[in-house]
Amino acid sequence: MEKEIDKELLVIPEHVAIILDGNGRWAKKRMRPRSMGHTEGARNVERVCEYAADIGIRYLTVYAFSTENWKRSVEEVAGIMNILRKYLVDSIERSNRENMRVRVIGKREGLDLDIVEKIQELERQTSGNTGLQFTIAINYGGRDEITRAVKKIAEDCMKGKLTAEQITEEVVNSYLDTRELPDPDLLIRTSGEIRTSNYLPWQIAYSEFYFTDVLWPDFDKEELIRAVKYYNGRDRRFGGVKNN
Ligand code: IPE
Ligand code: IPE
Ligand code: MG
Repeated sequence: MEKEIDKELLVIPEHVAIILDGNGRWAKKRMRPRSMGHTEGARNVERVCEYAADIGIRYLTVYAFSTENWKRSVEEVAGIMNILRKYLVDSIERSNRENMRVRVIGKREGLDLDIVEKIQELERQTSGNTGLQFTIAINYGGRDEITRAVKKIAEDCMKGKLTAEQITEEVVNSYLDTRELPDPDLLIRTSGEIRTSNYLPWQIAYSEFYFTDVLWPDFDKEELIRAVKYYNGRDRRFGGVKNN
């Protein structure tokens, strides 16, 4: 009850981005294989979507697999891809039930064709939903995203669709995978690492950062509210000066 009262007094960030980290350590602590941590991590993504919608967050964007994560063992990567396969398929019904729209950002190239098809199907089938706008970063790297955008801009310049003078920050933004999303207000990273690991480097230029030691599978509603409370204590100046 107390939590609910608090919630009403809080300013809720419109867009929360999460680096969900610590699945492997969560499993290790229990002497279980890393894959089990990923399975539990995926379950927690579903729960956190519900909490986010509950407390009134409009956009939630989670980092599920980075362009650097291919460096892991073949077994671990295959395990994560299988969890994603199941997640993408199961999400259709659940998202529609919860009025949640799902988008996927990241490089499609390099993903198995059936995964690309499952992504397209999930995006298509949830495109009319007006509740939580949920985005999953799969095979995502910020530098890769910017490089793809620059290539596309160069191509459009060569085709005569765009001139160098016309390239503004808004134009660059419109070539990014996140073009339909506002910038994150709050970035959360679990598991105690204090780095951004190539996540949304352009978009988090003015985000508030919240780091917690909690491992991703243990990150619950109370933790989310704690992060939102932290956000409420920040003084966002965006380069200006505030008269207090
Ligand atoms: C995050 O958990 C999930 C992915 C990066 C796919 P990790 O697998 O990185 O877990 P730790 O950091 O090894 O504990
Ligand atoms: C970041 O976690 C990527 C994802 C959460 C998908 P990592 O565990 O891969 O990051 P590093 O290697 O610790 O920077
Ligand atoms: Mg990690």
